[in-house]
Amino acid sequence: MKEQIEKIRQSALEEIKNANDEKVLNDARVKYLGKKGELTLILRGMGGLSSEERPVIGSLVNEVRDEIENLIEERKKEFKVAEIKRKLETEKIDVTMPGKKIELGSVHPITQIINDIKEIFIGMGYQIADGPEVEFATYNFDKLNTPPDHPARDIQDTFYITDDIVLRSQTSPVQARVMETQKPPIKIICPGVVYRSDSVDATHSPVFHQIEGLVVDKNISMGDLKGTLEMFAKKCLGEKTQIRFRPHHFPFTEPSAEADVSCFVCGGKGCRVCKEEGWIELLGCGMVHPNVLRNCGIDPEIYSGFAFGMRNRKNSNGEIWNRRYAFII
Ligand code: DAH
Repeated sequence: MKEQIEKIRQSALEEIKNANDEKVLNDARVKYLGKKGELTLILRGMGGLSSEERPVIGSLVNEVRDEIENLIEERKKEFKVAEIKRKLETEKIDVTMPGKKIELGSVHPITQIINDIKEIFIGMGYQIADGPEVEFATYNFDKLNTPPDHPARDIQDTFYITDDIVLRSQTSPVQARVMETQKPPIKIICPGVVYRSDSVDATHSPVFHQIEGLVVDKNISMGDLKGTLEMFAKKCLGEKTQIRFRPHHFPFTEPSAEADVSCFVCGGKGCRVCKEEGWIELLGCGMVHPNVLRNCGIDPEIYSGFAFGMRNRKNSNGEIWNRRYAFII
């Protein structure tokens, strides 16, 4: 039996030494030490041995088992070290290689023109205001003198979250929010996103940008409105730009007007961009309606104000291809 154990020791150690991957090691473990392994079978057969032989053979089997196990562990470690070495060699990083280029995008035309317009108004002493895009219907409509039966309130036109909360359809509610929280003199513009229940076509979108303007102080007149818009138009579109007012109606202004600018492409002679008219619509505006002032806690007997609102436009192909056109075509 001793010889048999000796043979097992030799062949096991030989196999383990010659192993060149972990699978061979695992197979050897099963072959010699597993449930039906050669060494295990010897242990099982020890019942037939004499009481003198049993401890001798027993300790020999244990010795061989330890030896096999140790060698397996040793070889496993060797494989691990070799694997790490191989990885270190193959996965070397060449720190002298040029880095990956980060492609920078550019500022969107709408953001560019909003930034330009902000600069112009800040230069005239305005502050930039902000308001929520999910707005109470009261702010979007009622406080702005827009009665419950006004067509703009129809579900065809406005996205309702609940009966009294809407996705704002205009930036004008910011007027009410500012007037409620600030005392005159007020001079703000508010650029922001607005939502209308329009389907997308070349020139429409359910989401677009507006810039609202509001001035409230003592003795503010239509002349101030016109002067402000003229100054803005010249700074934004060129010194030769002229403006004109056409009568219009908005519930929150009285009187109301639409302001046009002379075409900055043809200078007013008529061309494709201005559709041969010489003028291009710029925005809606007017003197803040006394009801709106009153709704927001401002006494219309003491104060007056003007407001205006412009929206971003697309050309007839639906593109915003030039920052100057972004808000006025
Ligand atoms: N809110 C209007 C719209 O969405 C634009 C507008 C017109 C704003 C006249 C004003 C204004 O502040 O005075 O069409």
